[in-house]
Amino acid sequence: MAFIKACHETDLAVGDKQRFKLADRSILLFHLADGFYATAASCTHVFAPLARGKIVEECNVVCPFHRAEFDIKTGEVKKWANFPPGIAQLTNLLRKEKALATYPTKVEDGVVLVDV
Ligand code: FES
Repeated sequence: MAFIKACHETDLAVGDKQRFKLADRSILLFHLADGFYATAASCTHVFAPLARGKIVEECNVVCPFHRAEFDIKTGEVKKWANFPPGIAQLTNLLRKEKALATYPTKVEDGVVLVDV
């Protein structure tokens, strides 16, 4: 376990996300209604920056490139790449569904820490 400081809890409003480089890993920190969650910052399909994605259904992030959707809390694939029709399906022949890495977080004295 190696918890590393990402930011102060007041730096990130509920519903926001921000990318951090922690211990040579690109981490995306989300502030959801029930706390902070951290995932890998790149989509597992063809590595789009999920920081540019949208948060939907309160706890999923949608990739800005081909609309794969991941559960922010578990990394589970909720929908795989499906946009644009036809092209995404072609890339899916090479890129099979893969969950997003997630990292434990905790808040101590107002500081958000991520276990990388
Ligand atoms: S890069 Fe994310 S769905 Fe293709």
